[in-house]
Amino acid sequence: MDEKRTILVTGGCGFIGSNFVRYLLGKRPGWRIINLDALTYAGNPANLADFKDDERYIFVNGDICDAALLADIFMEQTIDAVVHLAAESHVDRSIHGPMTFVKTNVEGTCRLLEAALKSWRQRGEPEDFRFLHVSTDEVFGSLGPRGFFTEATPYDPSSPYSASKAAADHFVRAWNRTYGLPVVITNCSNNYGPYQFPEKLIPLMILNAAEGKELPVYGDGNNVRDWLYVDDHCKALLLVLETGRPGRTYAVGGGSQQANIDVVRHICRMVDERLGRPEGKSSQRLIKFVADRPGHDLRYAIDSTRIRNELGWRPEHDFVSALSKTVDWYLEHSDWVDSVRSGSYRQWIATNYGKRVGKNSN
Ligand code: NAD
Ligand code: DAU
Repeated sequence: MDEKRTILVTGGCGFIGSNFVRYLLGKRPGWRIINLDALTYAGNPANLADFKDDERYIFVNGDICDAALLADIFMEQTIDAVVHLAAESHVDRSIHGPMTFVKTNVEGTCRLLEAALKSWRQRGEPEDFRFLHVSTDEVFGSLGPRGFFTEATPYDPSSPYSASKAAADHFVRAWNRTYGLPVVITNCSNNYGPYQFPEKLIPLMILNAAEGKELPVYGDGNNVRDWLYVDDHCKALLLVLETGRPGRTYAVGGGSQQANIDVVRHICRMVDERLGRPEGKSSQRLIKFVADRPGHDLRYAIDSTRIRNELGWRPEHDFVSALSKTVDWYLEHSDWVDSVRSGSYRQWIATNYGKRVGKNSN
């Protein structure tokens, strides 16, 4: 690809988005990034505060559902590629309020596709234009105790979140097959790392353990996720953006399946070490098994053969050492933590956990 490219990143103030913008500016110093983000509860411009005076980085505070704004952006800038991460991303929130997921994840994606298609056509359909849609393994539903998701696994989403992402994936493919827009799709497993909003399992458990609060494990804690360190996901996204074949899907997974209860126990051990907690006072005593998530998928695991063989991608981080790095990051960034845990965060914690009756792990 060209030395100088302008990339429209959506959702760049969120967890993966901010890590991706940082990664891209480091790996491709000649590129310009326009970050379009509506700054929902999950978006935090402070995640990228160190780039605010960098002329390669432009932040636009706006909604992907705003067709007029999208038209302006595509008219004013020559966009060479779109990396679409903006979404409502939390399964539990989708259970409490599905319609914002339909609006942002489905309508927002279609608005973006429309704007991208119009601009691509006006520019004479450049072959190297790309629309990279960042999706999830949750579109495939739940695995039993054995097997893996591949790009050929039929869609079978369980939650309003995963159904909205599945719908978006279908629309992205339709824009490719019907209009020829050069799209690529990634379906990735669970990410972890710095800047993840503390409503998700790993940061929630780190902070609760450090603060001596209960550690609410859904069901029996035996649900399995395939964890990928966020930098390894960013590496996959850049590779797919530059070398992925238009119209193609790539499944991306960490190759690190862990039961939730094991993840929580690792975190307890790491937090105890950092805070010098003796065995009798271990954070493990804070584990509470609480009412399960409705429609809770049992297991996710990705077979990443395609992206490994075709594009040469490999995850570089192993789970325990990258988790340890993540624990350190959260313990060392209390200002960031305080800034994202606003009144609406406390309201969410009360809504999601208030009615879940729990029992201790021992
Ligand atoms: P996040 O919730 O941390 O961030 C989402 C960002 O999108 C926020 O900055 C938010 O302000 C912005 N946003 C939300 N609605 C918007 C709108 N209408 N217009 C513009 N911006 C809007 O999410 P994340 O965990 O970083 O996930 C990013 C993407 O990656 C999502 O599409 C998600 O489905 C996908 N994904 C996430 C994971 C994971 O483990 N976190 C794994 C696979 C795929
Ligand atoms: O698989 C990719 C998906 O991973 C992404 O598409 C989503 O955006 C992302 O949020 C994540 O979804 P999960 O639902 O798997 O992640 P979460 O961190 O919410 O939960 C991980 C597991 O931990 C899941 O089995 C539910 C469980 N859990 C979660 C929370 C928040 C608990 O046991 N207790 C909790 O308090």
